[in-house]
Amino acid sequence: MRDNVKGIFHRADANLALDRKEHVRSRDLQIRMAESAAFIVTGASRTFGQTKALNDVSLRVERGEMTALIGPSGSGKSTLLRALVGLVALDAGPGRVEALGLLVQTGGKVAPQARAVRARIGFIFQKFNLVGRLTLFSNVMIGRLGRIGFWRGLFGLWSHADRSLAMHALHRVGIAEQAGQRAANLSGGQQQRGAIARALVQQAEIILADEPVASLDPASARRVMEALADINREDGAAVVVTLHQIDIAKHYCRRIVALSAGRIVYDGPPDGLDPERLRSIYGAEYQDAAPAVFGAPVSA
Ligand SMILES: Nc1ncnc2c1ncn2[C@@H]1O[C@H](COP(=O)(O)OP(=O)(O)OP(=O)(O)O)[C@@H](O)[C@H]1O
Ligand SMILES: [Mg+2]
Repeated sequence: MRDNVKGIFHRADANLALDRKEHVRSRDLQIRMAESAAFIVTGASRTFGQTKALNDVSLRVERGEMTALIGPSGSGKSTLLRALVGLVALDAGPGRVEALGLLVQTGGKVAPQARAVRARIGFIFQKFNLVGRLTLFSNVMIGRLGRIGFWRGLFGLWSHADRSLAMHALHRVGIAEQAGQRAANLSGGQQQRGAIARALVQQAEIILADEPVASLDPASARRVMEALADINREDGAAVVVTLHQIDIAKHYCRRIVALSAGRIVYDGPPDGLDPERLRSIYGAEYQDAAPAVFGAPVSA
């Protein structure tokens, strides 16, 4: 009898332990799943005067994805990109943005940790990415400041490891030979690749690029896009890139999200973007801005 009771307790304990294990496993899974998303956006709206720059946008971007954000001028691409990191506050309301498992903003208020989130994200814009009077090398080292401390960085007290990390990053984007040149003297494409090298040494988990190739010739655009694709493939960084050139978006990104008047009107693979759908997304711009929108192919 006593043995029986003992057995029951033993089994109950074992079951409890299993339950606990299961609980821990599912909690770990939940944490991992939350961590796996680069961004989770729900019901995001942003109004400027009469303009609804974002109108109830919901979007989930996984880590490791390379996503193009397309749409006509004024459709809300830059606003969405900035809202992802709390540089634009959403309208007060239920709209919410999470990045890397952390709250960036909700209820129209940017969360205090948004700054810490931004430190884990690399930014590349159409222009003005580098400090013109500093060398390319110093600009890349700026990506290291968040990790080595401001004062050491200010006095150029870079460790050997930091220096070789920067040179390795410059090699990867193909501009190591320009390391000693002032950034202002570099071509637009070299500057963009410098910004990507900076994101590499920053060990950015996400790259946000707002029209990084808009002012570049096709060959430079290709090199910049290839550097972004490389950081996505090799380092697993999620890349979200706004583009005006559909052909570039289709060539480099497995996922395309199209905005029109602040709403997501397409979210899927490049193949789904047939001319009819593109015409409905771009409206008048499809005809009028066709050469600008469908610029020279970069894969040639
Ligand atoms: N700070 C602001 N103040 C007022 N209106 C704004 C502001 N920022 C954006 N807008 C408006 O919000 C809408 C979306 O702008 P946004 O810059 O996000 O578009 P976009 O898709 O990036 O366009 P583009 O392709 O020209 O860069 C536009 O109508 C724009 O005029
Ligand atoms: Mg824009």
